[in-house]
Amino acid sequence: MLKDKIYDAKKEVLAFEASDIQQAEDFRLKFLVSKGLIKALFNEFKSAPAEEKRMLGKELNELKKLAEEKYASVKKKLESNSQQEDENNRLDLTLAGEGVELGSRHPLSLVRKEIVEIFNKLGFVVSEGPEIEDDWHNFSALNFAPEHPARDMQDTFFIQRNGDEEIALRTHTSSVQVRMMEKGNPPFRAIMPGRVYRNEAISARAHCFFHQVEGLYIDKGVSFADLKQTLFYFVQELFGENTKVRFRPSYFPFTEPSAEMDISCTICKGEGCQLCKHSGWVEILGCGMVDPNVLENCKIDSKKFTGFAFGMGIERIANLKYEIKDLRLFSENDVRFLKQFESELI
Ligand code: PHE
Repeated sequence: MLKDKIYDAKKEVLAFEASDIQQAEDFRLKFLVSKGLIKALFNEFKSAPAEEKRMLGKELNELKKLAEEKYASVKKKLESNSQQEDENNRLDLTLAGEGVELGSRHPLSLVRKEIVEIFNKLGFVVSEGPEIEDDWHNFSALNFAPEHPARDMQDTFFIQRNGDEEIALRTHTSSVQVRMMEKGNPPFRAIMPGRVYRNEAISARAHCFFHQVEGLYIDKGVSFADLKQTLFYFVQELFGENTKVRFRPSYFPFTEPSAEMDISCTICKGEGCQLCKHSGWVEILGCGMVDPNVLENCKIDSKKFTGFAFGMGIERIANLKYEIKDLRLFSENDVRFLKQFESELI
């Protein structure tokens, strides 16, 4: 029946989709050309019973319109797709290149590198150790007696108890001294940069982690004079020839005698300012002669060998060099802050 044929054709037209031009062309050839299906149905229509003609004619015209519209819309869609593809594939070789943004070194890396290079010149090699430490390397071997109040000097993050031994985040890089001395035979001449952790409330002046550089020199006949001269050279290299140093007696369990070293304030040059609290001096490190107990703990003959050690905070030095007053800036990763160090030598 003609009516069913029109109905089937309509269904096919409505459902038609084409994914390429060939399929659209096949559709046109099937339905729309003069030898096509619609034309054939019109021919059949001529001999349809008179009373059905009105209804069939309407249906046929509708089918024709639907097919034409479908073909037009499918074709349009395919054409715009291929235009988009062309656009995407077009390479304009005359366009200016995309700028390559230069990263910058973190100020702490810059300062660490500078410190390491100065000590390299004096024959110190770099040595590193783990950040998760046992009690022995962080405290006991360094002459902190059990229950010694000196353990309270450093607010430790304890992680777990391993049998008799506490496991903690190292509170200073002095633990690397012990590892180094245990591993080999003197002489040792090394610096040990690294991150350390202390349980402190975070503020502009304190953080729960920071960075230190430890120094160790052990040999026959090393004296306090060597310590002073080494650190004096270091300060002159880092802060300039006119920088003065002074040593104040201090206490560390692992050095005897111990001292803290101040340098003349890099900001006011000793005149007195806020940074040096109007004293003209700023403290930069702790140091001393390695305590014979520490040498013995590490199986080094303290009758034969002596040595010195020192430890400094990298943030502190960066603060003096770049006047970064808020410690939190170092770990916030704010690009506006970091970008300021772009021009520093890499
Ligand atoms: N470890 C000490 C601290 O963290 C610094 C230090 C190192 C002092 C070596 C003397 C010798 O405060």
